[in-house]
Amino acid sequence: MKLTSLALPLLAFVASVAAQASHIGLPKAGSIVHKGKKVKVQVVKPNSIEGSIEVGLVLSFQYCPPPDPCPNPTFDLGNVLYVGKLNAKFHEIPGEPYQNFTITIPDYSFWNPGPAQIIENRFHLIGGGPAAVLETNTVAVQLKN
Ligand SMILES: *[C@@H]1O[C@H](CO)[C@@H](O)[C@H](O)[C@H]1NC(C)=O
Repeated sequence: MKLTSLALPLLAFVASVAAQASHIGLPKAGSIVHKGKKVKVQVVKPNSIEGSIEVGLVLSFQYCPPPDPCPNPTFDLGNVLYVGKLNAKFHEIPGEPYQNFTITIPDYSFWNPGPAQIIENRFHLIGGGPAAVLETNTVAVQLKN
């Protein structure tokens, strides 16, 4: 297999972005959340060889009343419920450092039960450049009263 000298750094970059990806471990997709109640959001950042520099983390809640689907979670964050930095640590899950956050679902009377999503936007730096990466993850939930 031959790779050009240009392709190699690009492949390494793509691979390292994938290795740095975090995800929302909790709540699980399809979970029920209640207006005005607390929800534990677990952000998992799998252990990887290359460290990343965490810049910022935003957790938000987007109510998506039918018939429209949830909007783009990078450009329309909904209610911002946490702004800070991800500091994932090793706990009981091997190879999967995480951090638990507790957010409170807004309690608007004009929100009816329906679909919603919890959104994670994570800004971090990776590699020797380094490169700036904005990662967006969502989990679909059901809002109940
Ligand atoms: C994070 O939250 C989960 C779910 O509630 C819990 O099982 C776990 O013990 C928590 N971890 C820490 C370090 O508090």
